[in-house]
Amino acid sequence: LTSALEPPLYLDTAATSPPSPRVVQVMAEAQPLAWGNPSSLHGQGLAAAELLERSRLRLAGALGCSAAEVVFTSGGTEAIHLALLGAAAAWPSGRLLTSAVEHPATQAACQQLAARGWQISTLPVDRQGLLLLEPFNNLLQPPTRLVSLIWGQNEVGTLQSIETIGRLCRDAGVLLHVDGVQVLGHRSLTFSALPVDLLSCTAHKLQGPRGIGALIVRDGVTLQPQLGGGAQEGGRRAGTESVLLALGMAEALQAAAERLAAGAGVDPIEAVRDGLLDQLLRLPGVQLTGAEPGSGRLPHHISLLLRDRSGTPLPGRAVVRQLARHGIAASSGSACSSQGTAASAVLMAMGFDPAAAAAGLRLSLGPWHRRHDLAIVPDLLAGAMATVAAG
Ligand SMILES: Cc1ncc(COP(=O)(O)O)c(C=O)c1O
Repeated sequence: LTSALEPPLYLDTAATSPPSPRVVQVMAEAQPLAWGNPSSLHGQGLAAAELLERSRLRLAGALGCSAAEVVFTSGGTEAIHLALLGAAAAWPSGRLLTSAVEHPATQAACQQLAARGWQISTLPVDRQGLLLLEPFNNLLQPPTRLVSLIWGQNEVGTLQSIETIGRLCRDAGVLLHVDGVQVLGHRSLTFSALPVDLLSCTAHKLQGPRGIGALIVRDGVTLQPQLGGGAQEGGRRAGTESVLLALGMAEALQAAAERLAAGAGVDPIEAVRDGLLDQLLRLPGVQLTGAEPGSGRLPHHISLLLRDRSGTPLPGRAVVRQLARHGIAASSGSACSSQGTAASAVLMAMGFDPAAAAAGLRLSLGPWHRRHDLAIVPDLLAGAMATVAAG
């Protein structure tokens, strides 16, 4: 099992990524020292509380927010639910604007709000997955109170123009929640300078531990806790804190910040991704989906649409299975929708028909990948496509 998950041909970091040795090491070293309950008043508790607050400070430093704005959660899904349900609780009801290419966690939170009397408007995107600004802007007026938008789309890699959208929301006096799960660690981010009120984060996509994330809550935003029973996290999220996981998340973010600094703000994986993408697009029947490479696309992300020689879409899942047989871990869309229908709702929202929307392939890279590790990928993909096409 270990070797199946090991680099270099694990190309599914947008689903999850292997914890980095650096993260594993700091967590292992801290384990004997910080297992106490951070709310306890004895030595063990104080040691745990100190480590938790240090981790919070480091995380805040990496994200450009204050430590008081960090609410640790169990991951991105919980952060999104806390953001939307917690913020909406400040109002009797209203309208929430979101896009047609959100992660299922956002869709689920929106469904809960709909059941509480909120009007949910799901706004269209263009062929690349970018939110259409005109219909969005037209609805930025009462009763709209809340906007929730995915920053980096997990299936197709498109980055929304969060700065522009945030400014529109600010001008309209509407609260903005951003799902930053895929962006974290791949882009320099200064929360204090962003026109964003709530930012959902997770650790496991950037080689941190699973089971921890954070919601960044701008100072002054009222949030009703969704889990009660304790005053942890400034009264915003009850439950004994996972001190070691918080430490691992801070370490993973710090490592990512160092990589970004070394690349003068650009994720060094982008050049490796561009090299691989260039090779893949030379294969017959392979087409890029989502935004073009460059500042509008997640730097570690490749999403493709696959067709046979006659132009018929190839089932993405069958190609993924073939690739797995040859040692490449990839995905046909989002891990979360892999139990549902084969056609990607995201690709359909972008205007692809159901057959094409079932022909997606996603390859997502990690910082350990080097060009030479990936040289074999185009041939293996061509072989997998030929096998699937032959039935
Ligand atoms: C864009 C996006 N949002 C939210 C999530 C959910 O995060 P988590 O797995 O930490 O609950 C994911 C994970 O797949 C994601 O890709």
